[in-house]
Amino acid sequence: MAKAARKILITSALPYANGSLHLGHLVGYIQADIWVRFQKMRGEECTYICGSDSHGTPIMIQAQKMGIDPEELVKTLSKEHEKDFADFFIEFDNYHSTHSPENKELVELVFKRHLERGNITKRVIKQAYDPEKNMFLPDRFIKGECPKCGAKDQYGDNCEACGATYAPTELKNPYSTLSGAKPIEKESEHYFFKLKNYETVLREWTRNGHLQEEVTNKLDEWFEAGLQEWDISRDKPYFGFTIPGETDKFFYCWLDAPIGYMASFKNLCDRNKKLNFLEYWGKDSTAELYHFIGKDIIYFHALFWPAVLTGADFRTPTAIFANGFLTVDGQKMSKSRGTFIKARTYLNHLPPEYLRYYFAAKLSNRIEDLDIHFDDFTQRVNSDLVGKFINIFSRCASFINNLFEGKLGSSLSEPNLYQEFSLAGDSIAEKFESLEFSHAIRQIMALADKANQYIDEKKPWTLAKDASRKSDVQATCTMGINLFRLLMIYLKPVLPQTAKNCEDLLNISPLTWDDRLTPLLDHTIKPFRPLNKRLEKTEIDAMKTAAKEDLDTKPTDTTKPVAAHEPIKETISIDDFAKIDLRIAKIITAEHLEGADKLLRLELDIGSEVRQVFAGIKSAYQPEQLIGKLTVMVANLAPRKMRFGESQGMVLAAGPGGKDLWILSPEEGAQPGMRVK
Ligand code: 2FM
Ligand code: ZN
Repeated sequence: MAKAARKILITSALPYANGSLHLGHLVGYIQADIWVRFQKMRGEECTYICGSDSHGTPIMIQAQKMGIDPEELVKTLSKEHEKDFADFFIEFDNYHSTHSPENKELVELVFKRHLERGNITKRVIKQAYDPEKNMFLPDRFIKGECPKCGAKDQYGDNCEACGATYAPTELKNPYSTLSGAKPIEKESEHYFFKLKNYETVLREWTRNGHLQEEVTNKLDEWFEAGLQEWDISRDKPYFGFTIPGETDKFFYCWLDAPIGYMASFKNLCDRNKKLNFLEYWGKDSTAELYHFIGKDIIYFHALFWPAVLTGADFRTPTAIFANGFLTVDGQKMSKSRGTFIKARTYLNHLPPEYLRYYFAAKLSNRIEDLDIHFDDFTQRVNSDLVGKFINIFSRCASFINNLFEGKLGSSLSEPNLYQEFSLAGDSIAEKFESLEFSHAIRQIMALADKANQYIDEKKPWTLAKDASRKSDVQATCTMGINLFRLLMIYLKPVLPQTAKNCEDLLNISPLTWDDRLTPLLDHTIKPFRPLNKRLEKTEIDAMKTAAKEDLDTKPTDTTKPVAAHEPIKETISIDDFAKIDLRIAKIITAEHLEGADKLLRLELDIGSEVRQVFAGIKSAYQPEQLIGKLTVMVANLAPRKMRFGESQGMVLAAGPGGKDLWILSPEEGAQPGMRVK
């Protein structure tokens, strides 16, 4: 009897819906997606879910800055994220949101069960408060001078200038980054989760094979330090769910974020009747549950989350897999070096599967940081994917197509070689299963070398010249294509698009892991067409340049919002000011740019000439509102090359940003070209 399929639920961290995805995010999603695809190919009942992490102060503030509702921001960014994921072939079975009715209901249920168990307590605490904005300030919204070296504009936990660490209360001359006001201390009552009630459960759970060894060790340190009560509430204004019985207090977003996994799954169950919510989340569930996360959020997943689940009568995860951070060319991603690369910037220049392959070739099941070195990336992709793997197919397919009308032979000339490749599928599967992807890739590439060696030895191109050896050509190329097909099976979780193309060329249905047991014989394939192309250095360079420009053109750079109360930090001399040549300009053309979120293309008549400028004012104006208006421009700003062309100056605008951003319109009587004094 066939083995019953495993029921597996896999989640990836829910990305915050207030910023674009970058390559660093993608490590964990690609890792999880490869694992999901592997499980599905093996015939397991596997469900992969994700969604937007929609709540919290940063999302609320970002929406305010843009002059839109948080719901709208979340919607826009969810769409952007979903598109990015899809274009990297990261395929979720459901993408939902923590700001959803399912999540609200589940969070309230979880909270109620904990209240009933006496796991929630209330007490008054003092926190930093912005008296201008009338809101409590999370640490990251407070800056000030470093208490050790006096460097300005440092965050409340450590100094970027001297490296000192300290508490936010130690900052000198602290100010709110939202209003510039000096924070005061204010009292408020908060809800706390008594984590200590679950110490015994947690100590056992964290040692029972659910976690990577490094995580277990880290948790031991946290146990030693003592489990603190966890503040699960936030005061208004906040974007989140109101705590039942309260009007001005909300659940902290980190309480409802992981519950969002359940909500996303529940939302799917409501549409897919084959799935049953409690079969996966009930206390006695025998299904497997895995969370793929970044190492920075281990605390929430390995400590709070199992406790929250246990106390609310739900099952705990089978395992949590944490991945490390991404470095680029050996260093932290950097905006100025062009190594802070958004997912979309990569997609605009390079094939998504190459990144999937490169990550797979470097990933292990430990929490190590992963470096993407672009020379190595190019070399690896070209040599492995194009030079070794696809080469096997292209070398053999042309003979089969040209000499045998696409027909493969009816038997294998080297059954032992086929057997060796086919059996290797077991150990490759073990490597995928245990998340040792780099080992799996190494083994697959060693087989690719062997397949190429086989073809080199048989030399079908020489055989083809001899009419009496024609059947040997077919035999060799049938072997070659069969070996290639096995490698394609093993690489399919990593290269889903290439697999699809190959399935089409081979004229076969979607490959499963078990297909390795049966060779493809007596079968007609389609005419070959090139599959993957070599990467050129110029493509990488173009992407890096675009990455720099992308960030240059963010409205935070060109139309940096400055809060009314933010102290003026540096002065410039009158001579500095005199260098700026301000001119009156008439906007004669204004238009949208394809692919630009923030920029409009303007043509400005400054009397003596017409200039093209890309201005980050799309959030505030429709192009047609601008045509014919006068504005002030910096006329002697050095031209800058951008993704869309050259920007030849800058228009001046004022306001807090978003919809409230005003082009400075000069008084009537001004003429294009006039200098502004
Ligand atoms: O760190 C983050 O990006 C969070 N938005 C991840 C949340 S994961 C889960 F808990 F929702
Ligand atoms: Zn310092």
